[in-house]
Amino acid sequence: MRYSKILGTGGYLPEKILTNNDLEKIVDTTDEWIITRTGIHQRHIAAEDENAVTMADRAGRVALDVAGLKPTDIDMIIVSSTTPYMVFPSTACLLQERYGIAGCAAFDLNATACAGFMYGFSIADQFIRTGAINHALVIGSEVMSRVVDWDDRSTCVLFGDGAGAVVLGPSSEPGVLSTHLHADGTHKDVLYLPLGNNKTPNLESVKMMGNQLFKLAVNILGDLFDETLEKNNLQKSDVDWLIPHQANIRIIQAMAKKLEMSLDHVAITLDKQANTSSASIPLALDEAIRDGRVQRGQLLLMEGFGGGLAWGSALVRY
Ligand code: COA
Repeated sequence: MRYSKILGTGGYLPEKILTNNDLEKIVDTTDEWIITRTGIHQRHIAAEDENAVTMADRAGRVALDVAGLKPTDIDMIIVSSTTPYMVFPSTACLLQERYGIAGCAAFDLNATACAGFMYGFSIADQFIRTGAINHALVIGSEVMSRVVDWDDRSTCVLFGDGAGAVVLGPSSEPGVLSTHLHADGTHKDVLYLPLGNNKTPNLESVKMMGNQLFKLAVNILGDLFDETLEKNNLQKSDVDWLIPHQANIRIIQAMAKKLEMSLDHVAITLDKQANTSSASIPLALDEAIRDGRVQRGQLLLMEGFGGGLAWGSALVRY
């Protein structure tokens, strides 16, 4: 059997930090409201000369280094971003040019929002599993600070900037056990980011029905966990780590409860990084691996959901 396996991870966070106290000076909010309702204490904000490409570059190089690979070993670059530097060339192509590896497949996923990393991870897994390629670099890179309405307290407090990267490669042992992708366009109005009809910048700001989205997320993710475990004939108790998308601590708590798992076994970066959209899962995974919590051989359940709605999971033997 041929599987794909996580060979390396990396992350990048911009230097500038915006705390909840800083936000109190921008919109009518309080540190206490934000912490109680979301679990977020602070977020990183990209500098003017940073963008999805520069951040992906930094995270990707770390992941390659950890994997012990050179850029020339990569056969496919997938970048998930709702905030790409350009519509085209893709962030992945711009990254490929920086890495000097012209010729390999490189593309962006931008329609799957916060679920984008799970979509990219799943695509890379299929290509490696079938033997079509050997190594894939999958990155989530987001400058959410450029697409939030800084006058809208119900959304601007939630997001942050950053990039996370994973290198996947072939293995005769598991590896990625299964991935699961779903979408439901009937919920298109719950979370969306419109184009600005050719105005500059050509994007408006994130619009969200927070309450509805919260309930949808809890139901959808609960079913997704059942589907993922059933597919592998595994029990909740087999899962060592939950690596969730970082949208709201209350959603994460509900997911841990669903898995009958203590929060000590959940990778949480939300408090320091807020919701970095498609970068949040690889950033959380990278931190938990880097500080030694996640160990080789452990079973990881990764999940993401976002605008579309789109959602996905992966069960991974790390
Ligand atoms: N500071 C202070 N008050 C705020 C606020 C802020 N930053 N944002 C909203 N409020 C107010 C609202 O105006 C509302 O006031 P009202 O009762 O006078 O109308 C009140 O707080 C409650 O708002 P509500 O939207 O019901 O709060 P909530 O408990 O649902 O929390 C979210 C709001 C956004 C934190 C929560 O719904 C959420 O996290 N939803 C999911 C979001 C998500 O997953 N997004 C990303 C998907 S990828």
